[in-house]
Amino acid sequence: MSQAGYPPQHVAITMDGNGRWAKQRGLPRIAGHKAGGDNIRPVAKIFAEHGVRYLTLYAFSTENWSRPGAEISGLLGLLEQKIDEETQAFHHDNVQLLHLGRRERLSKGLRERVEAAVELTQDNTGMTLCLAFDYGGRDEIVRATGRIVSAGPSPASVDEAVFARYLDSAGIPDPDLLIRTGGESRLSNFLLWQVAYSELYFTPVLWPDFGLEEAEQALSEYKRRQRRFGRV
Ligand code: IPE
Ligand code: IPE
Ligand code: MG
Repeated sequence: MSQAGYPPQHVAITMDGNGRWAKQRGLPRIAGHKAGGDNIRPVAKIFAEHGVRYLTLYAFSTENWSRPGAEISGLLGLLEQKIDEETQAFHHDNVQLLHLGRRERLSKGLRERVEAAVELTQDNTGMTLCLAFDYGGRDEIVRATGRIVSAGPSPASVDEAVFARYLDSAGIPDPDLLIRTGGESRLSNFLLWQVAYSELYFTPVLWPDFGLEEAEQALSEYKRRQRRFGRV
C-alpha cells in the first residue's frame, strides 16, 4: 500500500480531452493528440520538481483500438515519434522510462523504441515515468493471472503482495493520486488493481491545457484530503 503524506509519491494521469481541444480550435483530432503529446515532458517536469517519484500516464487504452483506423495509426505514430525524440532528454534528466500494457500488438517500430527507451534509462535514479499504452486494467490482471498459473506457486502462498508482483506495475507503489483531465468522472479501465486507495481528482481542463496551475491545484487538493485506508 502507498504511503500517505505529502508530496504524493506516485501520481497517475488519464490524459483525456485531446479530441475536444482540437475541435474547439477547428482542427483535426490528431492535432489535439499532437498538442497532448507535446504536453508530456513539461508536465513530467512539474511533478518531478514537486517531489513526485513516479508518474504514470495513460496514453492508449485497450478500448482505444475501437477508434477509426486513421486515428489509431496517427496516435500510435505520434507516440513512436515522441519516444524517439524525447528519450534522450528524459535520460539526460535522469528519468527512468517504463511501459505498462501489452507490447505484441504494437508495430515493430513502436515496440523497438519502447524497449530501447526502457533499456537506456533502466539505471536512472530520478523520477520514474510509466507510459501506459495498449493498456487496460482488466487485461493487466488477466495477464498477471496467466503468469501466476504458469509459474505455479502453491495457491496458499498467493496473497495480494505476491499477486502484485505479476502485474506490469511490479515494484511500483500504488498511485496516491489519480488525476483525470477532460471532465469525465470514470476510470476507463486504468490501473484497476492499483487505484484501490488512490485519491481521485477530476478536472474539466482538457489535457493539452493542463499545466503548472492545474498541477498545483491538484496537488493542493490532494494535500487537503484525509486518507484513512479504512482506519478511523
Ligand atoms: C485522450 O483524448 C487521448 C486518448 C484517449 C488516446 P481523446 O482522444 O479521448 O479526446 P476526447 O475525449 O475525444 O476529447
Ligand atoms: C481514456 O480516455 C483513455 C486514455 C486517455 C488513454 P477515453 O477517451 O478513451 O475514455 P472514454 O472512452 O471516454 O471512457
Ligand atoms: Mg476521451
